Amino acid sequence: MIGIISAMQEEIQALLNELQHTKTTEKGMRTYYSGTLFNKNVVLVFSRWGKVASAATTTQLINDFNVDEIIFTGVAGAINNNLNIGDVVIGKHLFQHDLNASPFYKQFEIPILKKKFVETKDATKLIEATNQFIRTYNDFIDLKDSKDFDITIPKVMHGDIASGDQFISSIDKIKHLNFLLPTTICVEMEGASVAQICFEYDIPFSIIRIISDKANDNATIDFSRFANSIASNYALGILKNYFA
Ligand code: ADE
Repeated sequence: MIGIISAMQEEIQALLNELQHTKTTEKGMRTYYSGTLFNKNVVLVFSRWGKVASAATTTQLINDFNVDEIIFTGVAGAINNNLNIGDVVIGKHLFQHDLNASPFYKQFEIPILKKKFVETKDATKLIEATNQFIRTYNDFIDLKDSKDFDITIPKVMHGDIASGDQFISSIDKIKHLNFLLPTTICVEMEGASVAQICFEYDIPFSIIRIISDKANDNATIDFSRFANSIASNYALGILKNYFA
């Protein structure tokens, strides 16, 4: 059983439309949709925003739905100049950029775990699935949507991600994050908390993040338009190849 999480309904809608034999379970103000997606047994859920919501949802999936793998899919803001709106980041290491329990623990260190980041499962297959999606991009994404965001040919990067309970929309904040966590290439609000729980329960996990904005002055507008229109079609295209 594979658990698939997004933070928002919009990010998971295309997957929900494709889900077969759906059974729904309501728990803790969330709806868990079990069924088959491209012939795999999956549970889909949107966690709501932030580290607390996504950690709670991950724990519920592990304990009540017996998942043996978790995939998080959603959008992120780029903090690396090589990334454009529409590119895909497959997570490598997940950091909590707003975690600082110094002087008791070093900045970013997760208390007790003695770790500053958590590593995802081997990403080779997911990167290949994403490249395959990019080659067949027009089968999944409306040309009009691509034009709206100036997307020509998206690319995939395998890199580090920083999560925190903040929507980032300022160049100063990006500069600060680039200085503190120089290997991270995008920001979001859930990946590292999903990662921490998966590490603690020994469940392999992956993080797929589609760039919706550049975490700058325009981030609020870009994020809303992108998440509402095309984000979940990316997830559909990538997971179709991943599950094949
Ligand atoms: N998710 C998508 N864009 C984001 C941003 N700019 N900051 C935090 N989370 C995001």
